Amino acid sequence: MRNGKGWDRGLPAAGPGRTYENREDDVTDAHQIPRPRTGIWLIGARGSVATTALTGAAALAAGLHPPTGMVTEAAPFGPCSLPPLDSFVFGGHDTVSCPLPKRAEILAEAGVLPHGLPSALHAELAKADTAIRPGAAAGDPRGEEELIDTYAADLTAFTREHDLARTVVINVASTEPHPPHDAPLPPSSRYAAAALRAGCPYVNFTPSTGLHHPRLAEAARTARVPFAGRDGKTGQTLLRSVLAPMFAQRSLAVRAWSGSNLLGGGDGAALADPAAAAAKNAGKERVLADNLGHLPEGEVHIDDVPAMGEWKTAWDHIAFDGFLGSRMVLQTIWQGCDSALAAPLVLDLARLLARADEAGLTGPVDGLGFYFKDPDSGPGDLPGQWRALLGLAQRLTPGGERAATGAARGGDGPEAAAAVVGEGRETVTTLGGDGSAAPPDQGGPATARTGEAR
Ligand SMILES: NC(=O)c1ccc[n+]([C@@H]2O[C@H](COP(=O)([O-])OP(=O)(O)OC[C@H]3O[C@@H](n4cnc5c(N)ncnc54)[C@H](O)[C@@H]3O)[C@@H](O)[C@H]2O)c1
Repeated sequence: MRNGKGWDRGLPAAGPGRTYENREDDVTDAHQIPRPRTGIWLIGARGSVATTALTGAAALAAGLHPPTGMVTEAAPFGPCSLPPLDSFVFGGHDTVSCPLPKRAEILAEAGVLPHGLPSALHAELAKADTAIRPGAAAGDPRGEEELIDTYAADLTAFTREHDLARTVVINVASTEPHPPHDAPLPPSSRYAAAALRAGCPYVNFTPSTGLHHPRLAEAARTARVPFAGRDGKTGQTLLRSVLAPMFAQRSLAVRAWSGSNLLGGGDGAALADPAAAAAKNAGKERVLADNLGHLPEGEVHIDDVPAMGEWKTAWDHIAFDGFLGSRMVLQTIWQGCDSALAAPLVLDLARLLARADEAGLTGPVDGLGFYFKDPDSGPGDLPGQWRALLGLAQRLTPGGERAATGAARGGDGPEAAAAVVGEGRETVTTLGGDGSAAPPDQGGPATARTGEAR
């Protein structure tokens, strides 16, 4: 192991005006990478968020930058025994073929990644590139069973080839429109079904359907792995989850809450489709309804402005009444680099889901609303979500999970917890003839309820 990372040995982080020339001094020898290692499988692996997450993990593992923006590097998560970033091995699916080193160079030219970083990490990026398998877009002529099988086989092969303890699947592909009622499974749902079939923890960082498809309801209910979603909360909705509770707690009457987003990049292009934008906006509105108790007047608009590249400006206009009907307005402007906001959250979620799987949690993981616009459970306000996340951190702390796991499995010692570690690798979930998802152990008890230990 290294004697501390470059930046915490008193060396300033590399960055603008600083080079990565002496990087070799900080690089972990391949033979020293800690085991067991954790696979991170990114759906949309060549996209901006995925490339930033992957490059960022390699930069942090090499000690080139401090972990700014990574919540799981903060003190409360120290005892959780989360997998270290230098134990991550990346792979994924995508429908485009631009090699990762080239994609990272493009992001550096756009100012998302520091200049020089893609070339300093060329070897890591090229290696991850070899583990990206072809995905399939909507309308692919192959049947959905064949596609799910192919994806699940890709996941199993990746996990075996790299001798990984587990592989966490994270959807960071382009946002899809919500599918019509009787349509075939959309691509995001096929990938989600494949993750369960291969026994992999699953995260949906996008507003796409994923596991929320009615035909996957049974597979989700009986999943023997943990999962979480959906749609990462990185900007406008993050701010809404802080401000909306303030209005409610101060008994101010919000009359209208309107928002506008200008963004470029691949996400901006995908969201130029009104159906995809509608999927995104549903989460932005939910946070208001959850916190205010009603949905105020006002809409959210998303405009694709290619000239803005990877940057986003989000404007909110909140009209509210105070004492004796006094009319007031709050306006906020959030200007952010989308991928730089999203990538550390993707890495946090990868670590938390890997640890949740190791600790034996199955089903939707309680306590992750902090990260999502449209979470499966928990409070809608950010302070409440932070407290819930700290509760999860406690449950994930070795020893903390024993009581829950032991109780659920009828045991009460550390052995009961240890017995479930690694379980689920061979879980097979099949789609029934009617397309409904069904677990292989049909006769067995349903194991998945919210955050339940398997
Ligand atoms: N702050 C943020 O950046 C943020 C926050 C929340 C959610 N998200 C979501 O994350 C996702 C990724 O955002 P991005 O900026 O990286 O977008 P992007 O356009 O740069 O990347 C998306 C990638 O998905 C790939 N893809 C598309 N369809 C696919 C399929 N069927 N199978 C496999 N790969 C496929 C594309 O080829 C592309 O490489 C979007 O859905 C976005 O809404 C981003």
